[in-house]
Amino acid sequence: MMERLSIWALVLVNLVAFCFLILAQSSSAQKDFVSLSCCANQNSTTDSNGIVWTTDDLYFPDRQTCHEISRPVENSKGIFIRTFDITGSGKVCYHLTTVVPGQDYLVRGNFSFGDSLALSSFGVLIGVTPIALVSSASSSGNDLAVEGIFRAQKGYVDFCLLKEEGNPYISQLELRPLSNDSDYYFNGDSRTVLKVIRRVNLGSTGEDIRYPDDPSDRIWKSGGDSIGGIINATTVFHGPTSVPIKVLQTAMVNPDQLVLLFNDFEKIQYNYTVFLYFLELNNNVGVGKRVFDIYVNSEKTLSGFDIQGQGSIYRKVAMNVTASGSLNLTLVKVSNESVVFGPICNAYEILQVHSWAEESPQGDVDAMLDVKNELLQSNSESEVLATWWGDPCLPINWQGLVCDYIKSFEVVTKIHLSSRNLSGSIPSSIANLLYLNEVNLSYNHFTGMIPVFPTTSLLRSLDVRGNDLMGPIPESLFSLPNLTTLYLGCNPNLINASPASLNNSKFITDYGECIALESSNSKKGLVIGTVACGSVVTIALGILIYCLYRRKFAFKRYDMKAYIIKKNAVSSILSTEDFVLKSISIQTFTLQCIEAATQKYKTLIGEGGFGSVYRGTLPDGQEVAVKVRSATSTQGTREFENELNLLSMIRHENLVPLLGFCCENDQQILVYPFMSNGSLQDRLYGEASKRKILDWPTRLSVALGAARGLTHLHTFSGRGIIHRDVKSSNILLDQSMNAKVADFGFSKYAPQEGDSGASLEVRGTAGYLDPEYYSTQHLSAKSDVFSFGVVLLEIISSREPLNIHRPRNEWSLVEWAKPYIREQKIEEIVDPNIKGMYHAEAMWRVVEVALACIEPFSAYRPSMADIVRELEDALIIENNASEYLKSIDSFGGSNRFSIVIEKKAVLSPTREQAAEPSPLSSQPLAPPEPR
Ligand SMILES: *[C@@H]1O[C@H](CO)[C@@H](O)[C@H](O)[C@H]1NC(C)=O
Ligand SMILES: *[C@@H]1O[C@H](CO)[C@@H](O)[C@H](O)[C@H]1NC(C)=O
Ligand SMILES: *[C@@H]1O[C@H](CO)[C@@H](O)[C@H](O)[C@H]1NC(C)=O
Ligand SMILES: *[C@@H]1O[C@H](CO)[C@@H](O)[C@H](O)[C@H]1NC(C)=O
Ligand SMILES: *[C@@H]1O[C@H](CO)[C@@H](O)[C@H](O)[C@H]1NC(C)=O
Ligand SMILES: *[C@@H]1O[C@H](CO)[C@@H](O)[C@H](O)[C@H]1NC(C)=O
Repeated sequence: MMERLSIWALVLVNLVAFCFLILAQSSSAQKDFVSLSCCANQNSTTDSNGIVWTTDDLYFPDRQTCHEISRPVENSKGIFIRTFDITGSGKVCYHLTTVVPGQDYLVRGNFSFGDSLALSSFGVLIGVTPIALVSSASSSGNDLAVEGIFRAQKGYVDFCLLKEEGNPYISQLELRPLSNDSDYYFNGDSRTVLKVIRRVNLGSTGEDIRYPDDPSDRIWKSGGDSIGGIINATTVFHGPTSVPIKVLQTAMVNPDQLVLLFNDFEKIQYNYTVFLYFLELNNNVGVGKRVFDIYVNSEKTLSGFDIQGQGSIYRKVAMNVTASGSLNLTLVKVSNESVVFGPICNAYEILQVHSWAEESPQGDVDAMLDVKNELLQSNSESEVLATWWGDPCLPINWQGLVCDYIKSFEVVTKIHLSSRNLSGSIPSSIANLLYLNEVNLSYNHFTGMIPVFPTTSLLRSLDVRGNDLMGPIPESLFSLPNLTTLYLGCNPNLINASPASLNNSKFITDYGECIALESSNSKKGLVIGTVACGSVVTIALGILIYCLYRRKFAFKRYDMKAYIIKKNAVSSILSTEDFVLKSISIQTFTLQCIEAATQKYKTLIGEGGFGSVYRGTLPDGQEVAVKVRSATSTQGTREFENELNLLSMIRHENLVPLLGFCCENDQQILVYPFMSNGSLQDRLYGEASKRKILDWPTRLSVALGAARGLTHLHTFSGRGIIHRDVKSSNILLDQSMNAKVADFGFSKYAPQEGDSGASLEVRGTAGYLDPEYYSTQHLSAKSDVFSFGVVLLEIISSREPLNIHRPRNEWSLVEWAKPYIREQKIEEIVDPNIKGMYHAEAMWRVVEVALACIEPFSAYRPSMADIVRELEDALIIENNASEYLKSIDSFGGSNRFSIVIEKKAVLSPTREQAAEPSPLSSQPLAPPEPR
């Protein structure tokens, strides 16, 4: 009796201890969980597993972005999601700070989508490593989860959403530490992110298993068909397993072979890590009784595998496999008399391996976070700061920053926050940015002193004009070795430096003076009339000023254009003398007319930095594209002026002409003829390309047209204009597929002798940017040549210049294509859709030109005129080939290229005779740049 009692007591004590242990375990385990329920009003607990969800208000306090989506099926309260309204391009990140370096974690985003929301697609990144593209169109109605596993390298991790189209959204975010024996980095390569593709509890028909059965809250989905049969056993195993015992207690078995076949893998080749988990559930199976071979994609990877071969009934197999499109894992029973049982498998995981993308150096990241925090103190409402999330440079830089690739890292080199309405002190942490060489904080409301930069600073240019700075200028500024440009004017309380320090010939400076623009000319020559819908005006000096200065700069204390700074390198707008050069008659339109033509902006056909573009029809039946400056864009004002200025002077058959403009009621509107065949980009790999493949001769003639348009720009009025945003989406096609270069919002006069050539802001589009211009800011026509080279690669390959959803080595079109071209393997880069439909010699000419255009050193690049000649040659070769084909083709064919063929006789000299040394054939290949 006593004995019995004591046993009971023991059992009871054990039970209590056990319960206590479970409780302690679960609460301590959950303590390290981050479980965010986005936009939730209060904390909540999931009944089935006790997970406590907290709201994400701490990360994003703005409740404007919350949406409730209804879930009638689940009969639940409704789910909240948070959407992020990102204008232009950008990313948003959850900055999770409860991370311990060296520890492995899983992070899981849930993206529930409701019908009430606009469709969108966005990338999901861990740190700066993209692991998934979420598209609401394909997940509609389903809850989509993206899970990645990583080993923490620092005390935080950023979980980021990178906008593609529409607004990114998220419903829940979970972060879980993983136990050490889960061993995901078994092969020692922890510089990877493992994206979970499958995690399956085989043989189970019940609920998914997660926390608290799995202390790391991995979700084991029930699955596996039961063709061979399933085992559901109560086998108890006490040894360590990296999988919950409950998951191992069911299995799939088959007397001959178990097939795990996946046909829905991504088409792109990836490495995968596969884990197979085995627990012998049948007591009658001893060593040597259940032996099987493991095949991966029909290749025997493990032969004679026996779970109990190592003396335990539990075993785990980890494999590296490479797969694209599909994966076939087959377990085949070994045919041997002593082997009586077929294969078994209890659970598996398949993880896609993504190499860890290098982030910006920690010093820069920390410094920029400090800069952000310092600025936030006085500018909590600032729009630009609201976009500063995650890594300052990657995969796209924060607005207002320029980053460069230096010593295999992406580092911050320029801060451009001019006219951003910022106040408070200039953040002192900018001095901690090791590679910073240019700072432009002009025309804000900064107060306090100019920060002190260390003597090691690489600062080249500092512009703090038009603020409220005070005190003396730090003497140390003048001894910074690289500083050559210093603008301090229009700070009434700044104590001017001794002229001695400034009167140093190395400085380009305003000597601290604030010089107002003389307004005497500004109204001269203003000729505007208005008749019915549009009226013809002679564009002359003053019309812009009329347009622009009617708008009141109510929120800006300083009007940038009211000051002219001595020796300002490149005038950011074309100066007034420039437009008496030539006058072209263009129309002004009334707002009423524009609204009628576009049926109140009914059909949106495009969007750019400047604003939106709508389709319309004028009363005379002409189809037009109407570009409306967006109300919020200050940048747009400058682009509007620029475009109006340039296009009112320039006409060329390969440049989009301007029909007229409207600047009523603070609206700034430009009117162009409608280009019915859309953009080259759309034809190459956009929607239009899905309907019809653009043939090679047309691609060639479009490239030639665009090159002629750019040549005209580059040689305009003896001085030359640089487009600065050459890209395939800015090459438009009219109804006869003639190329017209568009979008002159960023264009500038080429710097002249005496100008430093350094431009205030680097402009252009990622993927097309000339690395030399980007890093030195030295603007020349060769920057357009580089971008045009990228366009040529696009017409060859039909690939986008930058696509982070491709494998890392294919992100950049230039970097991907170059090695193939150097190894003369052009068939590897040619668009598969035009294979066999081009003349090899013509293709080679274009490839050669493209390669020369993307030379890292601008001096080695050809001029646009050289390129025109090369493309003319290529087109002649191509057309002679097709003429020949046509002559044997009784149906005849298009004569679109006949004009070019006629020109053959008058073709310019060959490239050897070109005036400028042309690198096309003679220049040795320069060593590849690190970018
Ligand atoms: C929600 O939970 C968090 C963390 O457990 C706690 O700090 C916070 O006070 C809770 N909020 C409410 C409203 O209960
Ligand atoms: C898997 O690949 C890594 C290299 O990525 C290698 O070090 C490791 O040995 C491989 N493991 C197996 C089991 O093949
Ligand atoms: C295993 O079998 C038991 C009863 O035999 C059943 O209650 C349980 O749901 C089964 N488990 C699974 C995962 O199928
Ligand atoms: C797969 O891993 C091997 C090394 O283990 C590596 O060389 C290869 O580039 C990887 N492939 C992909 C597509 O990442
Ligand atoms: C999968 O691999 C096994 C073993 O090599 C093979 O017998 C089977 O035909 C393969 N299945 C498919 C669909 O490829
Ligand atoms: C800065 O100046 C030093 C010497 O004055 C020079 O060697 C260095 O190249 C300059 N660095 C940059 C980034 O311009």
